[in-house]
Amino acid sequence: MALNRKLIMLASAVFLLAACENPETESPAAPAVPAPALADLPAPWNAADLANGKAVFAKCKACHTLVASEGNLVGPNLHGVFDRHPATQRRFKYSPALAGFKEEHWTPELIDHWLSNPKSFLPGNGMFFNGIGKPEDRRDVIAYLLINTRK
Ligand code: HEC
Repeated sequence: MALNRKLIMLASAVFLLAACENPETESPAAPAVPAPALADLPAPWNAADLANGKAVFAKCKACHTLVASEGNLVGPNLHGVFDRHPATQRRFKYSPALAGFKEEHWTPELIDHWLSNPKSFLPGNGMFFNGIGKPEDRRDVIAYLLINTRK
C-alpha cells in the first residue's frame, strides 16, 4: 500500500515536471488551417508539378477565384474549399444538384472525380466545364488548389 502511494506520487511528480518543461517552446497561435507546402501534401499530390497546376488553373480562372477577399464569378470563390461542405460559399446560388450533394467535405479525391467529368459525376450540376482528361493535370491543379485556397 505504502509503496503504491509512493509510486503514484512519483508518477505525478514526473508528470508535473514534464508539463512544466520549456513553456517557451510553445508555438504561437497558428491560423486555423495554414497553407501547406508541397512536401506536406499527402501522396500523390506531394509529387505534383505546381507550375503545371497553375497553368491548368488558367482553365478555371474565368469562373473561379481562390483568395478569401475575392468574390464569386460565374462559379463560387474556392477559398477554403477543402475545409467546408460542398455548396456552402456565401452569396453563391448553387444548382439544386450541387446544393443536394451530401458529401461531408470536398476532399482531393472527390475533386479529382469532379474534375475528370463534372457532368457524369453529378448530373444536373451547373458547372459547364468538360473536365480534365489527364490524371497528372488533375493531380497538379488539385495540389495548386490545396496550397492556394488556404492563403
Ligand atoms: C464555365 C465556368 C466554370 C469553369 C471553367 C470551372 N468551373 Fe468550377 N464551378 C462553376 C460553377 C457554376 C459551379 C457551381 C456549380 C453548381 O452550382 O452546380 C462550380 C463549382 C465548383 C466546385 C465546387 C465548389 C463548392 O463551393 O462546392 C469546385 C471545387 C470547382 N468548381 C472547381 C473547379 C476547377 C478546379 C476548375 C478548373 C479545372 C473549374 N471548377 C472550372 C463554374 C466553372
